Formats: sequence, structure tokens, C-alpha cells
Amino acid sequence: MPHTTKLLFIAGSAREASLNKRLARLGADVAKANGLAATFADLGDYPLPIYDGDFEAKSGMPDNAKKLKALLLVHHGVFIAAPEYNASLAPLLKNALDWVSRTRDEGEPPLHIYKSRVFAIGSASPGAFGGMRGLIALRQTLEMGLGALVLPDQIVVPRAADAFDDQGHLKDKGLMEMYKGLIQRLAHAATVLRG
Ligand SMILES: Cc1cc2nc3c(=O)[nH]c(=O)nc-3n(C[C@H](O)[C@H](O)[C@H](O)COP(=O)(O)O)c2cc1C
Repeated sequence: MPHTTKLLFIAGSAREASLNKRLARLGADVAKANGLAATFADLGDYPLPIYDGDFEAKSGMPDNAKKLKALLLVHHGVFIAAPEYNASLAPLLKNALDWVSRTRDEGEPPLHIYKSRVFAIGSASPGAFGGMRGLIALRQTLEMGLGALVLPDQIVVPRAADAFDDQGHLKDKGLMEMYKGLIQRLAHAATVLRG
């Protein structure tokens, strides 16, 4: 039976009214509308302590880090909508990436979970730059820190508090098309390259 490529959409914000969750949810809806298997996951459902080596040594890996890794494992392409905090990553996202980077099953090569998936990134911000400075930091973490393949294209939604219509679509049709194209490329790359 042919293997179906599955895409995961997450946001680096747990806030109920998060603009980045809106972007991630929209991505999952767009993917499904185009016949792709897609999941939206809320990082708020996976609370984790701030990473601390002593905590890890004493208590081991938190269940939610294992659950997050398991979630990544059943998807081949991952889209991350990342809020920009002071021109960098939001701690919720960085902490989740860090914890998952520490999980390692017996015999598993380091960072295999990241190295065997394809990533695409985007951001939404009420500001004029749309969070694109934070994406530089996220790209650095994913590519240089975690060994992940990140598509060169990204989606940036500036003035995001007013960027979505009542259906959750981007009002800017050009931006919406760009997002659809990015999702198609993520699905294609994940299909070709999944580990
Ligand atoms: C600590 C903090 C730092 C922030 N720094 C930036 C920033 O550097 N650039 C930016 O565009 N927005 C910045 N913001 C505003 C966020 O983009 C805004 O709160 C956004 O809605 C957060 O994403 P979310 O809606 O997905 O939660 C910052 C917000 C916080 C709380």
C-alpha cells in the first residue's frame, strides 16, 4: 500500500488567540483541502519544564517530550509558525525543540528525529516585519543545531492582527497563494526525502 506523506503544523505559542496558531491551523486546513494528510498540534497540550540538566538527570525525560517526539515521528514534513520575541525564538518553542533533541531511543543516531524530517517555517506578528528576524534564529537552530533540512522559502505575515479574514484565510491573496505553494513544496520534499 502506498505510504501517505503526513504534514504536522505547530506554532510556538500556546496563547488561545495566538496569531501563529492561526497561521499553523490555516496551513493544516490548506493541506487537507489539497488532499494531504495534515495535523495541527498545540504546544500548549505538551507543557514542559524549562530544560535543566539536573532535572533530566534526576527525573529522566518528561512524558510530554516523549509524546512530542512520537508526534514528529508519525509525520514526514513539519511546518512551524514561530512568534518573534525580541528578534529571536519564543522560549516555549526553543524549550520544546531542546527537550526533543535530548530524547534518544536505544541505537538511535543523535538528532535522528530532526535529521529525518523536512521542515518549513513561517511567522506572524502584529509588527511591520512579521517576525522574520525570529525566523533567522529558528532557521539557525533547526539547520545548524539540529541538523534539519529547512526549505529556503518561508511565509511571513506582517500586521497579522488584521491579516486574517473570518474564515481564517489570509486577506492578502498573494500571500495566501505563497503559503499554499510553500505547503505543496513541503509535501513534495517530505515525500521525496523522508527518512
Ligand atoms: C517578550 C516579547 C517580545 C516580543 N518581541 C517582538 C519582536 O521582536 N518582534 C515582533 O515583531 N514582535 C514581538 N513581540 C510581539 C509578538 O509578535 C506578538 O505578541 C505576537 O502576537 C506573538 O505571537 P502569538 O500571537 O502567536 O502569541 C514580542 C512579544 C513578547 C511577549
